[in-house]
Amino acid sequence: MTDTLKVTKISKSKIDQVDFSKLAFGTVFTDHMFVCEYKNGAWQTPEILPYGPLQMDPSAKVFHYGQAVFEGMKAYKDDNGDVFMFRPEENFNRINKSSERLAMPAFDKAYFFDGLNTLLNLDKDWIKSGENNSLYIRPFVIATENGVSASPATEYKFIIICAPAQAYYSGEVRVLFADHYSRSADGGVGFAKAAGNYAAQFYPTELAKEKGYNQVVWTDANSHEYLEEAGTMNVFFRVHDTLLTAPTSDRILDGITRKSLIELARSQGITVEVRPVKVSEIVEAAENGSLKEMFGAGTAAVISPISGFTHKDKKFDLPKPEDAYATKLKKQLTELQANRADDPFGWRYEV
Ligand code: COI
Repeated sequence: MTDTLKVTKISKSKIDQVDFSKLAFGTVFTDHMFVCEYKNGAWQTPEILPYGPLQMDPSAKVFHYGQAVFEGMKAYKDDNGDVFMFRPEENFNRINKSSERLAMPAFDKAYFFDGLNTLLNLDKDWIKSGENNSLYIRPFVIATENGVSASPATEYKFIIICAPAQAYYSGEVRVLFADHYSRSADGGVGFAKAAGNYAAQFYPTELAKEKGYNQVVWTDANSHEYLEEAGTMNVFFRVHDTLLTAPTSDRILDGITRKSLIELARSQGITVEVRPVKVSEIVEAAENGSLKEMFGAGTAAVISPISGFTHKDKKFDLPKPEDAYATKLKKQLTELQANRADDPFGWRYEV
């Protein structure tokens, strides 16, 4: 712990009021949060505080210009009660890349890791061991400077909150391939975890939900001919026995689960092609039966099998292969994350 981290503990935990058998994703938060303010050109003394509301001026820039970025990470507990995070340095690097794109200051690495370690130790009881249990960690940065002039703020808050989590999607996931709306464009902010990237998806995703789909798989904004990502997860396609996924770019999030899966699959002898994936080749593969699986990969979603997709007026149901890569890779990844398997890649970080 840095000697500058100030800790104010709660007087009484609210954990007894929580039914851990019925957790809707991201709705229940732990007892404490991490807060660090940026002003006068520097990050100030970070603090751990009881979880609670923030007081902000209505003119704060985040409300007007959406100057906000976030991360999604997870912590796991093994059967001995030890706690691990998964590749947290990747999240640290990515939030600073996102911040740079939104003209926000980079955060301090020691503050980030000391804050996380202290927070997770304090709220350790909220992390449950066992399959499907984890603690979802949400670091975010918001522009707190008052005033509605359209320019980058000079004041920010870096905050970390935590929510005990189980599966993100319950039940089948059906997707719609985008052919009108777009998530991101060349030179835009698609690669960043900018809050606005998510808000921009809500309306088209609601339209898709009205038609029975859980998610939209976004296609490139110029031609809608290439499959990119699903917004809450990157997407993989298994054609014959080869896994295909789109390369990252300034339009696509550099997903940590995505890149881990590519490495994990390759280490199992699975051929993974990271290349532009055409809508037409996936439609054709679904028609001729060579499309064996499709799944999403993300921190919240973990690995979520996709049971069917629709493109324009063509609707496809996908088979459920007995040797599904999604099942096998999910088991390997989650066991590694929760210290129930070896970690040949050095991805686990003990808290
Ligand atoms: C995550 O997987 O952490 C994400 O950011 C997706 C989230 C919007 C639920």
